[in-house]
This record gives sequence, structure tokens and C-alpha cells, in this order.
Amino acid sequence: MFQRPRGTRDFLPDEMERRRTIEARMRECARRWGYREVCTPVFEDLELFTMRSGEAIIREMYTFTDKGGREMVLRPEVTAPVIRMFVNEGKNIPRPIRWFYFADCFRYERPQKGRYRQFWQFGVELIGADSPRADAEVIALADALLSASGIEYELQIGHLAPVKYLLSELEAGQCTKVMQLLDKKEFTELKALLEGMEREELYRSLMDLTECTTPEELQDITGRIPEMEWIRALCSELDDQDLKYRLNFGIARGLDYYTGTVFEAFASNLGAENQVLGGGTYRLAHLFGGEDVPSCGFAVGFDRVMVSLGEFDLPKGPVISVIATPDAERYAKDVTRSLRSSGLCALRDPMERSFSNQLAHAAKIADYAIIVGKREREMGTVSLKNLCKGDQKTLTLEEAIAEVSSHGDRP
Ligand code: HAM
Repeated sequence: MFQRPRGTRDFLPDEMERRRTIEARMRECARRWGYREVCTPVFEDLELFTMRSGEAIIREMYTFTDKGGREMVLRPEVTAPVIRMFVNEGKNIPRPIRWFYFADCFRYERPQKGRYRQFWQFGVELIGADSPRADAEVIALADALLSASGIEYELQIGHLAPVKYLLSELEAGQCTKVMQLLDKKEFTELKALLEGMEREELYRSLMDLTECTTPEELQDITGRIPEMEWIRALCSELDDQDLKYRLNFGIARGLDYYTGTVFEAFASNLGAENQVLGGGTYRLAHLFGGEDVPSCGFAVGFDRVMVSLGEFDLPKGPVISVIATPDAERYAKDVTRSLRSSGLCALRDPMERSFSNQLAHAAKIADYAIIVGKREREMGTVSLKNLCKGDQKTLTLEEAIAEVSSHGDRP
């Protein structure tokens, strides 16, 4: 017997219906904000991802050499592919461009609950705008999408400038290490690292950064850095929209293409893998041969949203099993077609079981049985049996359709 590959999942119908319901809510939300869907290939040239992030990320990705000897990768995220597509196809589209995607991504991770090797992202990119108002639009959409999904979460917003300012005297390599530890919230290791560099005073300042909650407090730590105005304007844009968020200037973001504003959201009821969304401003287009275009975007970790929501019931609509005696077979086909035309879910037995076996099977999988025989065929009626309550009545097909439709999921 084969097992599915490590870090992947199979989804049974109940789970797929829940996923599609939440996906539809997110799509509807993106539509209302004027974002339109795009789709890129599942695999790309490896260099698209190593160009900015370096060769080290190869060990975190699914890479392969194709039959033509090209180095390829299953997409680990969708921002780089979307910007590649923008450079290839988007030159003449009026800006800013508002795009969204819902796509599976692949990362060679150590699997655990909420962390998979194949997972889905619902992402948004606003391309070609560079202002606090643009960042605020994207952040407010992030909030609207999560809120539409129904989860409880905290939105945290930061900016890379304060951290970079504090670390400006460190060498690039040291700075990256500090940012990585800060990003992972590995504060003990961070303290040890800075002590090793004889820069323990930086540890206190970095901790102050993660704790400060207003632009004013930030200014007390960093002084008047040039990005201060941007940060203030962004906060005031968000406050104007009554958005609930917490400032956190300790957000460093693992992917190293971010340039300024960064933000993340955390589900309240999840443990270790509780980050359900991440994003920020970035510049990638010029690396892929285009002009230097500013962008801002984010991706929702769709699977983590689903873990946070847990199992929930959905209205399914009644299921009707149409059962016929052999002399009413043709009539049963007409009845079934009419039920489906009126939007109902109608089943016929494909296994040529006996009448009583069909009825027994219907009791397991359907809410109603519509039974037709010679008498019903001649009268142009049907027998509608409520499989929950057991009662049965003779009705015209129109009456049966009206009765089933009016009861919805609860026969
Ligand atoms: P990211 O933070 O790497 O950002 O991923 C976004 C979200 O995807 C995470 O917050 C998390 O919820 C989810 N996620 C990441 N890895 C896994 C995994 N192995 N299993 C399940 N869920 C996972 C990006 O990917 C950026 N491209 C976001 C972005 C868009 N920035 C600008 N535009």
C-alpha cells in the first residue's frame, strides 16, 4: 500500500467543502477591493528564487533538473513568480496593478501541524504604488481577508528601518544573523550572539523595539530616522480605518526581499505554527530585468487558517435517491433529470441492486427517497419518503420539489 508523501495531505469531501467555502469568502473579499486573480506555473527556473535569497535556500526547496538539463524548482511562494509575470506581461497595464492568487506552494520543511511540504497561500500583490496609503490598503485588505475567514487573530505591523538603523554598525553577515534570530523570536540565542560580539547594549535596544507600541516611543529609541514620517502616516491611515493592530518593530521577515513596511498576523488559538499571514513592501522587478517598481503584498497561510477554524458544519442541501421498479425505469430517468434541473442533488443506483437494497442504501446516504413504479408513472406522481422521519406521501413532482427545497438540510 502506498502512503502519501511526507508533509502532504489528502482532503476528503467534508474538508474540501470547508476549504472551498473559506476560499470563496477570501475571493469575494479580494474582488470587492478590486484585486483580480492571476495564475503562474507550479514550477519555475531555480534562479528566480536564488537570485535574491542566495543558494542557501536551495535546501528548503523542491528542486530538480528537467530532461533538458534546466535547474527547476516547485514554487516555494508566489511573489517572485508574480513579479516575473509582471515584468514579462504587465508593462502596459495601468498602475497600480492589483492582483491576487490562490496557489499551492512547496517547501522542504520538517512537517508538523500547520507546517507542510505542500501548502496553499492566498496572496495579494499591489504593484507600482509607493506610499503609506498603498501599504495601508494592503494591510487593511489583509485584515479584511482574515476577518472574512472567521478566525481570531492579532495583526502586527512594523518597519525594517528601525532595526536596520540600530544594526547599522554591524557587518552585513552579522546583521543578517541578528535579523534571523529576531525574526524567529529566539531571544536567548540573540542575547548570546550580541554578547559574543561585545554589543550587548544592542540587545536591550532591540527588546525595547519589540515592546514599543507608538511612533513616539519608537522615536525615543531610534531618534528621528528618515522613515519616521512614513511610519506615522501609515499608522494614521490605519487608525482612520479603525483597524485593530499592534506595532512591532521586531518583525524582521524571513524572506530577504522586504524594504520597509512589514506585517504579520497570528491566530489566537494556534500553538507553534500560529503565523497565518506575512507580507510587506519589496522591490524585485528590476532583478528580473524590469524597471525598479515598488510593490507591497502578503500571503495568507490558508492551511493554518483552516487549522485555526477546526471542523465546522456546512449546509449541504438535501440528497434525494430516486428508486424505481423495473417498469418505471424511463419515468425515473425523467424525474431525476427534472430534480437536477431544479438544482437538487439526485442520485440513481448504478449497481442494479434490488428495490429493497436500493432503499436500504438510500437510508444511509440520502435524506429523501423518491419512489416511482407503474402507478406513479400512470398518474404522473411520485412517492416522497422522508428518510429521517420515515413518513411517505404521494405528490406531483412539482409538489415534491417544493417540499424538499423548503426543508433544506433538515428533512
Ligand atoms: P511567508 O511568510 O514565507 O511569506 O509565507 C506566508 C504564509 O504562508 C506564512 O505566514 C504561513 O502562514 C504560510 N506558510 C509558510 N510556510 C508554510 C508551510 N510550510 N506550511 C503551511 N503554511 C506555511 C511569503 O511567502 C511571501 N511571498 C508573502 C508576500 C507576498 N510578501 C509580499 N507579497
